[in-house]
Parts: sequence; structure tokens; C-alpha cells
Amino acid sequence: MKFFIDTANLAEIKEAQAMGILDGVTTNPSLMAKEGISGKDNIFRHYKAICDIVDGDVSAEVIATDYEGMIREGEELVTIDEKIVVKIPMIKDGIKAIKYFSNKGIRTNCTLVFSAGQALLAAKAGASYVSPFIGRLDDISVDGMDLIAQIVLIYANYGYETEVLAASIRGPIHIIKCAELGADVMTGPLSAITALLKHPLTDSGLEKFLADHKKVNG
Ligand code: E4P
Repeated sequence: MKFFIDTANLAEIKEAQAMGILDGVTTNPSLMAKEGISGKDNIFRHYKAICDIVDGDVSAEVIATDYEGMIREGEELVTIDEKIVVKIPMIKDGIKAIKYFSNKGIRTNCTLVFSAGQALLAAKAGASYVSPFIGRLDDISVDGMDLIAQIVLIYANYGYETEVLAASIRGPIHIIKCAELGADVMTGPLSAITALLKHPLTDSGLEKFLADHKKVNG
């Protein structure tokens, strides 16, 4: 399972990269705004800074919602670095844009996916990644994991190459459940990734090992 970090914060990206388990980064306009990054030049510079930290794919989202605008932005975004994947919203023009980019060999991440039907369209258009938002479904009392299971099954039925990128991850249980269901990738905050480290028996076990060592070694 690939681990992406869902942030535009360079310190957090560096920390995850330093752990040696990071496979990529996803960003979105809200995450860029949270870091105070504004203006095309600054935004492009920030994407480049992210690409320089990580080894894997970096999703950069278009702002346009019309076909021509998305094509224009996507074609500019991919000039930043070869790691850039153009993130495109699940709307009709978005599907057209994904098909266009797919024909040109430009990789895409279809975002804001909340149903199996939307995921099927993204795969048919040739998206490299599809991003079902688990946490936001959970927030409205719909089990996001059911959607992951549906998409994994549908893609397997037809051998679609689109990778299932479980997004809107809120904690470690989401990551584990996605791994059980066979999601190809998960993207979540650093806190969800580092929470996987934690177990009280690890902490107490380590404390005892060190105490026993100290007893005889001083
Ligand atoms: C996906 O790529 C999005 O950036 C993200 O996962 C959305 O998560 P949120 O629901 O925590 O905002």
C-alpha cells in the first residue's frame, strides 16, 4: 500500500519523508491556503519545493472548472516537475479533461469522489488515481469504507488500471481498514501516519527492556 501525505506543509512532508515510508503527496486549494500560499508564482514555487522533498507523485489541483481552463492549468502544472499529477474535480468537464490528459500520457487524480458511479467514470476516462473521500462520507453518517470496497471490486472486475487513492483519511483505523480492503494508496495527515506507530505494550515493553539493561550495566 502506498502512503501519501495530505498536506502542503513542508515541515510535515520532510518529517514523513525522513521516516522513509512516504510515497507521495496530495494537496488541494484549502491545504495550500492553510499554508498562506497565494498567487500563481508562489503556488508553482511551493509545488516545486514539495517535489524537491519527495521521491513520489505530487498531486496539484486545478482551480478552473471549465474544460479549456482545466487543460490550460494542467498543462502548465506538469511543467513544474515530472512528479506532478494533475488533480481534477469529478464534474462533467473534469471527466473530459481527464480523458484528454490520459490520451496525452499526462497523469491525473480525479478528486471529490463520493460514489461508485463517479469512480467508474473516472476509470473509464483513464484517470491514474481516483480519490474517494472517506472521512467526509463518515461525517454525514455514510460508511466511507463501503465505497472503498465497492470501487476495489468494480476495478478488479474489469481490470481498470486506475489506482484507488483513499482520501480524507482521519486516523489510523481508516488506514488499516483501507489496507484490508486493498486500496492501492491512502492519503492522510501526518498525525494519522504516526498514530500507526503507537501501542502501549511497545512503550511498556521498551521501558522494561531498558530498565533491565540498566540494572546490570548501570
Ligand atoms: C484528497 O486528496 C484531499 O486533499 C483530502 O484528502 C481531503 O481531506 P479532508 O476531508 O480531510 O479535507
